[in-house]
Amino acid sequence: MVEGQRGVERQRSAIRSAVVWDALQAVLQARRVATGSTGEPLRVVDLGGGTGGLAVRVAHLGHRVLVVDPSPDALASLESRAAEGGVTALVRGVLGDAATLGAAVGEQGCDVVICHGVLEIVDAPGEALRAAADVLVPGGSLSVLAAQRSAAVLGRALAGHFRDARAALADPDGTWGSTDPTPRRFSRDQLEMLLDDTGFDLTETRGVRVFVDHLGGAVVETEPAADAALRALEAEVATHPDFMAIATQLHLLATRR
Ligand SMILES: C[S@@+](CC[C@H](N)C(=O)[O-])C[C@H]1O[C@@H](n2cnc3c(N)ncnc32)[C@H](O)[C@@H]1O
Repeated sequence: MVEGQRGVERQRSAIRSAVVWDALQAVLQARRVATGSTGEPLRVVDLGGGTGGLAVRVAHLGHRVLVVDPSPDALASLESRAAEGGVTALVRGVLGDAATLGAAVGEQGCDVVICHGVLEIVDAPGEALRAAADVLVPGGSLSVLAAQRSAAVLGRALAGHFRDARAALADPDGTWGSTDPTPRRFSRDQLEMLLDDTGFDLTETRGVRVFVDHLGGAVVETEPAADAALRALEAEVATHPDFMAIATQLHLLATRR
């Protein structure tokens, strides 16, 4: 990859994560205020937190983060990442999954659970969310990020893969078959009902990556201010009902009942 392309990819990656990170920071801040101890670190659990990109960012805000993940390789990368970021004291990785979450977290529970990119791959999304509810203190916050079905249909169609688009449209899990790397995608209704059924009150749903995933490479490169404008546009459409349906992912924020 040439240097210009790398720069565009870096910009795109920052734009992809910005909507979720901005909302998550606001949730952490609100939760800190709600606990009444503005200086105390929150207890944050990142279920399926993988290599810890998000966990380390959360730790940089001063919170304690427990990453529970079944991949030993991911946890090894998490450890290196936390060390490089100077937050080893605040980040801990535990080998486990949704089924062992309670044992990993312990009886004291936690203030916030992050569950990003996990409901698509677990055997039983409802059980994973119930496990999250069980470790959260009442009023604790949940952040869920999951792939949206309708965007997969749009993405395949715009790429000229019309058979895949039709297959994803027809499949109840929103996949286009054996070549699809994502085992399951959701509609907004499905996710919101799943949260309600598992003990959460929905606070907000946002559309994430509404335009950025559908762009050609040249757009950001040729216009220096375009990436800032695209980032602002993504933030503006994230809560716009007309654009929610084409977002690649949905970000749901909820509190435990
Ligand atoms: C797509 S990655 C998402 C990583 C990270 N949360 C993120 O948003 O970048 C999915 C992660 O879920 C983990 N995982 C797989 N099965 C799981 C399960 N049953 N319970 C919890 N995590 C699981 C994988 O090891 C992987 O790290």
